[in-house]
Amino acid sequence: MIRTIGFRLNETDYRISVREEALALDWIRNEAGLKGTKEGCREGDCGACLVLLGGPIQGDQAPEGLSAKSAVEWRSVTSCTLAMGELDGRHVVTIEGLASAGLTPVMEAMLDEGASQCGFCSPGFVLALTGYLVSGARVDPVEAMVAVEGNLCRCTGYGSIRRAAARLAGEFSDLPSGLPERLAILAERRVLPAGLAAAMAVPIAPSGEKGSGEAVARLVIGGGTDYFVRNPDPDPSLAPSFSDKGPRARSIRESSAGGRSAVVLGAAVNATDFFSSPVVREAAPGVERFELDVASPPIRNRATLAGNIVNASPIADMTAMLIALGAELRLSGAAASRTVALEDFFVGYKKTVLAPGEVVESISFPGGWSSFAFEKASKRERLDIATVNCAVAVRMSPDGTIAEARYSAGGVAATPLRLRDAEAAMIGRKPSAALARELGTIAAGAGSPMSDVRGSSTYRKRLLERLAWAACCRLWPELRLEEELLA
Ligand SMILES: Cc1cc2nc3c(=O)[nH]c(=O)nc-3n(C[C@H](O)[C@H](O)[C@H](O)COP(=O)(O)OP(=O)(O)OC[C@H]3O[C@@H](n4cnc5c(N)ncnc54)[C@H](O)[C@@H]3O)c2cc1C
Ligand code: FES
Ligand code: FES
Repeated sequence: MIRTIGFRLNETDYRISVREEALALDWIRNEAGLKGTKEGCREGDCGACLVLLGGPIQGDQAPEGLSAKSAVEWRSVTSCTLAMGELDGRHVVTIEGLASAGLTPVMEAMLDEGASQCGFCSPGFVLALTGYLVSGARVDPVEAMVAVEGNLCRCTGYGSIRRAAARLAGEFSDLPSGLPERLAILAERRVLPAGLAAAMAVPIAPSGEKGSGEAVARLVIGGGTDYFVRNPDPDPSLAPSFSDKGPRARSIRESSAGGRSAVVLGAAVNATDFFSSPVVREAAPGVERFELDVASPPIRNRATLAGNIVNASPIADMTAMLIALGAELRLSGAAASRTVALEDFFVGYKKTVLAPGEVVESISFPGGWSSFAFEKASKRERLDIATVNCAVAVRMSPDGTIAEARYSAGGVAATPLRLRDAEAAMIGRKPSAALARELGTIAAGAGSPMSDVRGSSTYRKRLLERLAWAACCRLWPELRLEEELLA
């Protein structure tokens, strides 16, 4: 679908008619002619196409003292999973924008440490590290390496990249937290060209125009990190609507309707928003420990919870977490809105109860959990989809027994599962190694895991047993259950 959009690319403002569903990567390389944004995997996996995406902070995420309209946020994203329509009212920074005034300290660190050899991956690494300095995250060598977890390099072996990241972390450990101040300092210290830094502080207005042309297929796109991987050359007759455009789409708020407090998440809340939210962290203590188990920073920056759910993969990590937290979905469409428990949303492999035209409007889950654990086994430690996963949330009674429990498992059946037997086994019990073993036996007997390249059915059952043990160790670390379980 053709639409006029208004956006900024580096220091230039554009107002152009584009195919909304076309990929930003293709436009940047072929129309804008900026070939420094590389095409590697075209699947969000390698980071060669990384750009920085800036835009007004939406919903209730604006920092104190700033309205959502005047506050800008910057995140690294993969342009091979980003639709052109998403750029309306946003600002994209590519490697050419960073390099317009010569080498920056990030580029110098990469060169001095031998972190660039063939150079194909280097723009992506430079963007990821620059985005990290812009983001306001705590600057230290460990976090700097987390920032490049979505970038692959076939030449260097990463030791030199680690040295470059550590050097930058040392040089820039004193950045202020407010974005305008940080941008000014990054300009003064040549990380950003001065003109670019000034432009990055100012939001750009969206065109607000509607699309034209004959739409054949209508589709909601969240972050696009599932959709564009499956459809790398999207259908031009598609009329996409972007789930993050509504005013509350990315809001995370508390509600006390019905007596128990609940967390209500807009459909476009992404994984980064979720794990960094104080509201979520308070409702599900310990949830933030599992952020790095899900994808990479540029994917988390876009991957919405609703997209994870509607994609209906039996091993979706956010879905497993949300089932354990007791999530419900608010669906809206042509008929009246309705609420569905998340575990009842799935009716078969990649099949859901969504009616044609129906969308996920919001996701809510009760607060007041005492502890939360998520476990995932995959072939690679990071940046891999799960062979199996499980999540457990518990609410403890003052006498130390378990008052409420929710247990989910993925990779066990055609759909993500809620393990009610495991939950029943926990209620009224005190945590112990014996309970962990019992849960392991229940989890190993759940569903009917298939055998495939990721593991045989028997192996998956064994993993599910051990993930139950691991979850118990994580839920109650003070009991040191591992000493008895592994004796
Ligand atoms: C490199 C890489 C690594 C990944 N790693 C992981 C991982 O570790 N764990 C994991 O679980 N997933 C992973 N994923 C998968 C993906 O990132 C997640 O499933 C993500 O949450 C999908 O969200 P999205 O917003 O990008 O979905 P999209 O691609 O935008 O949409 C997915 C589907 O949901 C539909 N949809 C989206 N929003 C709505 C809505 N509001 N209402 C109705 N339908 C809607 C779309 O129409 C589409 O059919 C990875 C993906 C990539 C590319
Ligand atoms: S081309 Fe590999 S992440 Fe985009
Ligand atoms: S330097 Fe060649 S891929 Fe990284």
